[in-house]
Amino acid sequence: MKPRIVILISGRGSNMAAILAAGLPLEVAAVISNLPEAGGLELADAQGIPTAVVDHRAYATRAAFDAALMAAIDRHDPQLVVLAGFMRIFTPEFVAHYRARLINIHPSLLPAFPGLHTHRQALAAGVRIHGCTVHFVTDELDHGPIVAQAAVPVLSGDTEDLLAARVLRCEHVLYPRALRWWAEGRLHQDDGRIAVEGKFPSSGTLMAPEEA
Ligand code: GRF
Repeated sequence: MKPRIVILISGRGSNMAAILAAGLPLEVAAVISNLPEAGGLELADAQGIPTAVVDHRAYATRAAFDAALMAAIDRHDPQLVVLAGFMRIFTPEFVAHYRARLINIHPSLLPAFPGLHTHRQALAAGVRIHGCTVHFVTDELDHGPIVAQAAVPVLSGDTEDLLAARVLRCEHVLYPRALRWWAEGRLHQDDGRIAVEGKFPSSGTLMAPEEA
């Protein structure tokens, strides 16, 4: 039986769409959003994926929202919860509940530039290389064991939007690739770090610009 995932989104869902389009050996049991207006919900629905909304604005506390979200997720009994542009910070209880079963993509080369506005942060810092990171989620925001990273150059004349678009193209390749490794049972945790079983370096946990 294929392993089951639930994808959490808050917005347009382009990473979700890339995951759905990749023909991965897994079942997307549901797509859940904290915002009813998230564009990705329609995309998922059009592909026959069950969708749900748990609107955080309807809950008085973060703990109450997380509990409701957990219930909505666990209804599908997923082996992995995939964050794809899900813009809420979780309680430690939520993270503990999905320990080693919660994965995220962040638009920077972590540990550089955690948090929001990563492309603006990268431009302000003057880095020459930027990118994205797929990582397991721990209590510390935008930290946790790294599965894979993709790098892009920062070019002179770059704006936040140009850089974001360059990184996003990599995200759409990197996230499905990392999820394929997970679905194939190739991710192993060793001393807090992730090893990917397989042939290297060609199967690339570091994706270089020319591959994007
Ligand atoms: C992506 O850049 C992702 O890395 C970040 O939020 C953005 C979501 O975009 N966490 P999309 O909704 O997948 O298009």
